[in-house]
Amino acid sequence: MAETLSGDLFLRDLWYMPALASSLAPGQMRREMLLGEPVVLGRLQDGALFALRDICPHRGVPLSAGRIMAEGSVECPYHGWRFKRDGQCSKIPSLTGHEDLKAESIRVRAYPVREQDGLIWVYMAARPGSEPRNEPPRPGVSTPTRWTETQRFLCGIDHAVIGLMDPAHGPYVHDHWWWKKAPRVKEKHYAPLSTGFVMTAHKPSKPVYALLGDVQTEITFELPSTRFETITGKLLGAAFKVVGMTVCTPRNAENTDVIQVFWWPGWLNFIYPFFWALGATFIGDDRKIVELQREGLKFNPNLMLIQDSDQPAIWYSRVKKAWAESVETGTDFVNPVQERTLRWRS
Ligand code: FES
Ligand SMILES: [Fe+2]
Repeated sequence: MAETLSGDLFLRDLWYMPALASSLAPGQMRREMLLGEPVVLGRLQDGALFALRDICPHRGVPLSAGRIMAEGSVECPYHGWRFKRDGQCSKIPSLTGHEDLKAESIRVRAYPVREQDGLIWVYMAARPGSEPRNEPPRPGVSTPTRWTETQRFLCGIDHAVIGLMDPAHGPYVHDHWWWKKAPRVKEKHYAPLSTGFVMTAHKPSKPVYALLGDVQTEITFELPSTRFETITGKLLGAAFKVVGMTVCTPRNAENTDVIQVFWWPGWLNFIYPFFWALGATFIGDDRKIVELQREGLKFNPNLMLIQDSDQPAIWYSRVKKAWAESVETGTDFVNPVQERTLRWRS
């Protein structure tokens, strides 16, 4: 069965991850593009985060070019209007007190924002001001982040996501001794999750996992683009969990940041050098193939998704479509994924 890809459209009513928590010190802010929208993401002096539309409602100057004020607001650099972290205007310096305009009646869009697990999440609601439908995903471990890597992919979110979940590209794109094994038939079991699917726990075959001894791994994918790999095992009698997260953060239709974060217990720090040495290369492989793909996509060709090796991509496309419909119509989301075993050679 061949299927085609649905159009490049951003899903709403979901959490996106534009930055690591450590990248914003108190008193700092900057513009973060998200889904083609300019967002000023910042941290007040007391540590609280804020995410506002980075366009002053007065005359459009980016608020990110202004200042964070001690009383907990952002000041626009053009006429000094100030906005609180909930988006409400708290001061218009030019007013004398005789006018009938109240600063408090003016608002800039505020995005719900969360800081957890060393990550910053921003909720991109379909209707500004609406409450989040759910909470951001979590790794299920409580260690600090141990290793992170961000690379900009020159493509829309779909090709970034599909490239990362594609089981058939490994031997060609990641052609390294520590990753590659002679291609053979693989059989993996999949089950639906609330907004995605999981490749259930199995013994990984790649040589690099041998570093951790005898392990099991489980890989989940949920909208809009969060992949968690949870590796569990035992070393010298002690049980451990290594969790890797990969998210695709769409900046606009042609630029997507792929951000990878790993958590592991401190006593496993001996694996750090491997991440340091190989991690950037691994994501870089995926980034380069997408850049090459761009040379073909320029001509807007028809594309194919074939058989079991492209089934995760087919599911992604269907889950995405079902989510978009549920947002548009205000109806419950029903996950179209069915439990299934997939077989492919890679
Ligand atoms: S443009 Fe922002 S205060 Fe005038
Ligand atoms: Fe890959």
